[in-house]
Amino acid sequence: MPDGQDAKIHPRPASAGAEGANAAAGASSPAVEFRNIDIAYGKFVAVRDFSLSIRKGSFVTLLGPSGCGKTTILRSIAGLVDISAGQIMIGGRRVDDVPIYKRNIGLVFQSYALFPHKTVFDNVAFGLKYRNVAKPEIKRKVGQALEMVRLPGSEKKLPSQLSGGQQQRIALARAIVFEPQVLLLDEPLSALDANMREEMRVEIKKIQKETGITAIFVTHDQEEALSMSDRIVVMNAGSAEQVGTPEEVYERPATAFVADFLGKANMLAGTVSRSDRPTTVKLASGQAVNVLAPRPLPQGSAVTVVVRPQKLAVGAKASANRLPGRVVSASYLGSSAIYEVDIGGKTNIRANAPIDGRVLREGEAIELSFDADDCVLLDEAGRRIS
Ligand SMILES: Nc1ncnc2c1ncn2[C@@H]1O[C@H](COP(=O)(O)OP(=O)(O)OP(=O)(O)O)[C@@H](O)[C@H]1O
Ligand SMILES: [Mg+2]
Repeated sequence: MPDGQDAKIHPRPASAGAEGANAAAGASSPAVEFRNIDIAYGKFVAVRDFSLSIRKGSFVTLLGPSGCGKTTILRSIAGLVDISAGQIMIGGRRVDDVPIYKRNIGLVFQSYALFPHKTVFDNVAFGLKYRNVAKPEIKRKVGQALEMVRLPGSEKKLPSQLSGGQQQRIALARAIVFEPQVLLLDEPLSALDANMREEMRVEIKKIQKETGITAIFVTHDQEEALSMSDRIVVMNAGSAEQVGTPEEVYERPATAFVADFLGKANMLAGTVSRSDRPTTVKLASGQAVNVLAPRPLPQGSAVTVVVRPQKLAVGAKASANRLPGRVVSASYLGSSAIYEVDIGGKTNIRANAPIDGRVLREGEAIELSFDADDCVLLDEAGRRIS
């Protein structure tokens, strides 16, 4: 929740925009808005023409490979890096108008970054003391924040007496204790082991919902992004490739990059051999498959058929597309198996299918099938045909 001091700073009429000059300070505006920003380190442009509007109370994730500009964008919100073009608005106000120390932002980083010689209490109280909050109030708020991260009564401990997961909870308590307008989380789970990571995912999400805080989360872990976010921004080389709900970016990737980054999609190259409905694509591996093209495509045009491993079933299904091949490798995962299958034409595809009977072995014949509406079509430039 935004705190009281918020209302004292009024937006400039020029920046009030559609909300109108009489709107209460940013009441109806997005929590954070990027308008065509560029960020450069010397001559190197790390972020290019980035625009995004983040609703109040939502959980938005910046997802992308190392070096794509995720941390740089977070830092720009906190004022830790300057933008070289465009505008950033927080709660409807241009941040250029707000000095860094008045930006009411909570930060959690990958490394816990707790003060090692301060107690848990002093670590969590830091942002409150800095804001001149009265002592009894500090005590109450620190207690509440520790309660929230499920470490009540840990006030007197030192960070060295806590596990990695517990330290990260303290870092979270420290970031939310002063009720920031926006909570920025930069790969906060990457230093934790797999079990702790999953537990913390659920907890961070729960705290975000309970407090109604706007959270911007950075990760390069697609599972983390899919499971936690209201919206995902898939980034590539300093720009947003696609913004959408987890389902949208996973089921309907806008580009080959998004399809590939989110969940190892099979990309089957081919050419349109029949442009009526259903559209038929002749794959480079030899098979003809039916697809649902959103519009008629000229015969002979080059396309890529994108199919998720989970959409491929083992065995022939009536009226589905069939891809016969040979098992190259099989991994048993308990309830399902991952097969790598050679379907000819030097093409290997990946299927993640429930185990029906036994797991097939390397070298065995296999038939994979998928429905026409279980794939996405990309054009020659790698963009979704829509
Ligand atoms: N202080 C800096 N000076 C010069 N270049 C920088 C600086 N910080 C980042 N960069 C460059 O800007 C680009 C974006 O970096 P950034 O740290 O935002 O990436 P990231 O998406 O957070 O990556 P990672 O997943 O590895 O944390 C990278 O190419 C990086 O090398
Ligand atoms: Mg980073």
